[in-house]
Amino acid sequence: MASVIKVNLPSQSYDIAIAPGSLDQLGEYMANLQLGKKVLLVSNPTVFPFYGERAIASLKAANFEVASHILPDGENYKTLASVEDLYNVALENRLERSATMVALGGGVIGDMTGFAAATWLRGINFIQVPTTLLAMVDAAIGGKTGVNHPQGKNLIGAFHQPRLVLLDPNVLKTLPAREFGAGMAEVIKYGVIWDAQLFAELEASLRLDEMRYIQPELIETILTRSCQAKADVVSKDEKEAGLRAILNYGHTIGHAVESLTGYTQILHGEGVAIGMVAAGQIAVELGMWSQAEAKRQDVLIEKAGLPTKLPSGLDIVAIIEALQIDKKVKEGKVRFVLPTQIGAVTVTDQVPAGIIRQVLQNM
Ligand code: NAD
Ligand code: GLY
Repeated sequence: MASVIKVNLPSQSYDIAIAPGSLDQLGEYMANLQLGKKVLLVSNPTVFPFYGERAIASLKAANFEVASHILPDGENYKTLASVEDLYNVALENRLERSATMVALGGGVIGDMTGFAAATWLRGINFIQVPTTLLAMVDAAIGGKTGVNHPQGKNLIGAFHQPRLVLLDPNVLKTLPAREFGAGMAEVIKYGVIWDAQLFAELEASLRLDEMRYIQPELIETILTRSCQAKADVVSKDEKEAGLRAILNYGHTIGHAVESLTGYTQILHGEGVAIGMVAAGQIAVELGMWSQAEAKRQDVLIEKAGLPTKLPSGLDIVAIIEALQIDKKVKEGKVRFVLPTQIGAVTVTDQVPAGIIRQVLQNM
């Protein structure tokens, strides 16, 4: 299996290449892009021992001059301080405008490396080699880069599109099951918001919770259809002027739950799963979606081993207050992405507070 999906943008289009074993061809893929010789590969101490040397060997075989830097693992390190480390390494290695930063890791490494590449010398080349399911189907595509501010997640950032996104599904074999499940939340999201066929294929699988229980053909379908969904949306609305907001399905309440649990208790994808259950019920209460389809969504979420209930002890008033300080609030109104049928959603800021409260109380 090998497929290529194009992200078509007015400024610069790029490929998402999906092929098992492609990590060992990273250099060859990059050789076609007319990049300068110098490459800075950025990873973390969890991912680098598995895949770092293979990526470097492939880059060297294609005549790139490679430096590497390992940033600490974890969302806590997605900071300006880590990006400053990357600037220092860029300076030591004299990375010029033609140079390239390569992110080898999950969304945390991808977001930070992308932001460093966006800002070093006002923007150098950037390649994404995502190694988590979540980064493969979401974070690595679309050019959102950034870091956290002590007061909030992803508050500092820039749009900077990669020149290539290279997916080697084989690297998912070392990904912990819980991280795989978290990525599956975003896959289910694409099924609900965009791709009813993907949704049906997920429904047909006996299990979705661990990579080893899923047929390789379905993994291929999951990656290609999810990347295609994200590429379609981003190609139509690069800077989130409208349509791209639908990618935030499940994120409104999901982010509030993540933030109230200190970003430590639940993973991003788990928050999205809870948020999709809540948004689904809000849509049902508003008469926009059928209970039967909402139930089908929730069954998929459970099959992926994801939570469908709020973490115990979470205060509903605090969740409603947290919704007000989310990035998605526009002129004081909370925006929700709500399903109307499997494969289609609408965006609204007209959800009565009473319905939000009632749905949360039932969870
Ligand atoms: P992550 O990057 O923290 O990775 C999760 C864990 O898995 C880490 O410990 C990592 O070291 C480990 N890991 C990664 N690949 C592995 C592999 N192949 N084998 C073994 N371990 C591996 O988490 P994530 O879920 O990939 O990304 C979350 C981040 O992505 C958040 O910061 C979020 O804000 C961001 N994000 C960005 C976008 C975007 O559009 N830019 C979209 C969604 C999420
Ligand atoms: N993850 C949401 C977006 O890329 O817009």
